Amino acid sequence: MKIGILGAGTMGSGIAQVAAQNGHETILVDVSQEMLDKAEANLDKILARLVEKEKISADDKINIQGSITYTTDMHDFKNCGLIIEAIVEKLEVKHQVFSKIESIVSKDCILASNTSSLSIASIGSALKNPERILGIHFFNPAPLMPLVEIIPAVQTSETTLKTAKDLIDSWGKVTVVCKDTPGFIVNRVARPFYGEALRIYEEGIADFATIDWAMTEIGGFKMGPFTLMDYIGNDVNYAVTESVFAAFYYDPRFKPSFTQRRHSEAGYLGRKSGRGYFNYAEGAVQPEPNKDAVLGQKIVDRILVMLINEAFDAVFMQVASPEDVDKAMTKGVNYPKGLLAWADEIGLAKVLAQLEELFTEYGEDRYRPNVLLRRKVKG
Ligand code: NAI
Repeated sequence: MKIGILGAGTMGSGIAQVAAQNGHETILVDVSQEMLDKAEANLDKILARLVEKEKISADDKINIQGSITYTTDMHDFKNCGLIIEAIVEKLEVKHQVFSKIESIVSKDCILASNTSSLSIASIGSALKNPERILGIHFFNPAPLMPLVEIIPAVQTSETTLKTAKDLIDSWGKVTVVCKDTPGFIVNRVARPFYGEALRIYEEGIADFATIDWAMTEIGGFKMGPFTLMDYIGNDVNYAVTESVFAAFYYDPRFKPSFTQRRHSEAGYLGRKSGRGYFNYAEGAVQPEPNKDAVLGQKIVDRILVMLINEAFDAVFMQVASPEDVDKAMTKGVNYPKGLLAWADEIGLAKVLAQLEELFTEYGEDRYRPNVLLRRKVKG
């Protein structure tokens, strides 16, 4: 099957690499020739490194690069069986490009969006045959992250869903199917990892370094929340939080934080600007965490039960199966364990008791324990 990718930025170029490495003739289209040249040069470097590490042969490198057509002409999508769009996150622009693509490709061609925050239903509304739309959501960097969220919209046909899922599975990716709801699985369930960490800081319970130390050393997470937000970029992470918050009709569970907003406004974006919650200047002295085991455990427990509560909510609201929710968090954001499996390990009654304690103490809706968790504990 010939695969078309629209947008040669961070995500589109990575997805094109994945398609080409899996033997597909791939058409990568962008409005900007400069972005196409950059994508081609960048892939050349990546493939050269893979040859050096003997992960692929020199011939593979030539074949992979040779199977990608870099072009500004969307008409080259003509014989594609699947198009994945990865352009700017603006609904009007996505509508325009999908209408145009539909006039070029055959009626069997599946049309997918890699959007993180727009609904697939709203994107599909621009199509004459909306049953062919779905979300195929990769994680950054697409060639390395195993998870792909597959999102059928209300308009999506069974055939579209099955064909797309089978194809992405055949690429060796781990797919999870989820409802067309804000943040899909990962960007919804992961919110408390950032939000609760920021809240703990804002209450003066601990500083950035201590929270990160607790979550990595005691919690077993690969990166602490503040290091991760600095890595993602505070502007980007804040925008996702704000869009999920608005999309959930301002549910207080997803409330953004002033601290992150101020860091973003100040230009403390993280690694990319040299400074975020931490200072990345050469020779900068890093703050020492307070390695108090009791405090550390308290921090981990509070963030973890909030994450578990969110995982239960995703299952309760039928966003995805329990298996897929756990798979998504381990394969999409490298959590050390699936949150539902983790909850079983801790004991559901203990998780519920911790949430109830927070809910009673703060009296905020943010801490309300999920119904499914309560029902399970009740038995
Ligand atoms: P990017 O800004 O790196 O790249 C976007 C590309 O689209 C640019 O090369 C631009 O020239 C091109 N473009 C813009 N309008 C176009 C048009 N009308 N026709 C053709 N090309 C056009 O963006 P990025 O980060 O790759 O994101 C793309 C999509 O993927 C967005 O929908 C985003 O929500 C989603 N996404 C991003 C992730 C990330 O970590 N960056 C992760 C998962 C999804």
